[in-house]
Amino acid sequence: MTLEVTSTQTQAYAGLAGAYQEAHRPQLSYSPARNWMNDPNGLVYYDGEYHLFYQYNPNDTVWGDMSWGHAVSADLLHWTELPVALEVEKDGQGAITQSFYSGSAVVDRANSSGLGSPGQVPMVIIYTSVYPEARTLANGTQVQAGQQSQSLAFSVDRGRHWTQFSGNPVLALPPHPYRDELREFRDPKVFWHAPQSKWVMVVALAHRHTILLYCSRDLIEWEYMSQFGPAGATGGVWECPDLFPLPLDGDDSNNKWVLVVNLTPGGPAGGSGAQYFLGHFDGSTFRPDAGDACVRWLDQGPDFYAAVTWNDAPDGRRLLIGWMSNWLYARTVPTSPWRSAQSVPRELSLRTVAGQVRLVQQPVQGFDSLRRDTLLAIDDVSLAAGVDTLPRLRTAGVPVDIELVLACGSATRAGVQVHANAAGDRTEIGYDCERGELYIDRGRAGAAPFSADFAACHGAPLALVDGVLRLRILVDRAAVTVFAGAGELTMTSLVFPADESDGIALFVEGGQARLRQWRVRTLASIWPAPHE
Ligand code: FRU
Repeated sequence: MTLEVTSTQTQAYAGLAGAYQEAHRPQLSYSPARNWMNDPNGLVYYDGEYHLFYQYNPNDTVWGDMSWGHAVSADLLHWTELPVALEVEKDGQGAITQSFYSGSAVVDRANSSGLGSPGQVPMVIIYTSVYPEARTLANGTQVQAGQQSQSLAFSVDRGRHWTQFSGNPVLALPPHPYRDELREFRDPKVFWHAPQSKWVMVVALAHRHTILLYCSRDLIEWEYMSQFGPAGATGGVWECPDLFPLPLDGDDSNNKWVLVVNLTPGGPAGGSGAQYFLGHFDGSTFRPDAGDACVRWLDQGPDFYAAVTWNDAPDGRRLLIGWMSNWLYARTVPTSPWRSAQSVPRELSLRTVAGQVRLVQQPVQGFDSLRRDTLLAIDDVSLAAGVDTLPRLRTAGVPVDIELVLACGSATRAGVQVHANAAGDRTEIGYDCERGELYIDRGRAGAAPFSADFAACHGAPLALVDGVLRLRILVDRAAVTVFAGAGELTMTSLVFPADESDGIALFVEGGQARLRQWRVRTLASIWPAPHE
């Protein structure tokens, strides 16, 4: 199969791409200018700004010295990196005295915590503190050395300066015969539960595959309510939970609750993954829907972890972001002077798809404003088996947005290759019609000597409607994000292609397919200028 593609337009982008020196720096989603980042933390919208805090090592490109980095954005696309919000604490000899692990942030409008003052609304971060020495809480609870507990910090200047609460930590598990297992108690997500006028916290008991639920009137004193788990996938530690309601099929009188539980390892593509449960929350207990035994994944690719949603997003929107990496190889991916990016933020809804309630995801509203030129617009063409012959459509390193609607016909496999070169290197995003699976194959995406776990093909079941495959694929320099069907299946995968691997081609195997619609558009970088 050969498609005539005149690539005069693409040549115009060669110069533009050359301006970016850092070949693998994501152009569609956030990364800090330098050093290590992992989980998104403290997601909250306040006063025109979306806050994105994150696990950050201010001193190195590997995990350590855990601090909270900080960035803000008006549109969830363009970010301004701010100074570190909570910086690891060390003594005079350089030994760590407090590390700041994952957590959440709320805007305490009524000053329930008393941490603000009249006219000064406090933003409050609830994080997991790790102290190397034993402590005693105000209520007498003993915190062992190294035990994880929950602590507060607050800001009265829109998150620019942070003060730690003097009564930290505010929540720890009491001593217990299984103490070693109970040391790993982390990643509090706190939200305001309006029907019962109280704060609710979900927090992970990592090794027990259990989520504990607490409530509080003031963010300071926490009362145990209930627990959930083990359930679903339990192949690794449970981390970074979230709990929120979503209307089913847009009906506000019919809310369901979604409990997100990240786990590592044991994810769908090996290593880290994000699962969710659907059910009911009555203000104190989460009850999963009866008979719902299947494991549901937020993303079936290898690189979407520690996924959590924003508090207080305008218009009741539910917005999700994940760390675009995997603990299997996060420490060794070949980028510098930064390491790791967050995903493109996503808009969530709950819909009935083929008779089943599914979480449906799309790129955040407004993402399409990054679209620039249409490189390709092809409708209604029959495709015989084959791959586009060279020269292919080339993108010169500019990120692209691909929309593909393909009637699979008699083909056994069909899809698109991106980051392709003449030597056959490529990332293949395809549908295996016989297995009914969408896959991303990064087995030949570029050299991957940094990890034996990286070069692989990851697949996930996808039911086609009337034999028609619908894909939206965001192709960044070092990542591919796929939204399939209505968005009920997403797959996110890192790739590290060589500079010259910038071709895009359709492929069809085993029979004939019909291309209903194919659009390839360039996307503007989210960075105002080459990002150093
Ligand atoms: C998840 C995680 C969290 C923890 C943080 C530490 O990736 O292990 O459970 O709070 O990273 O950086």
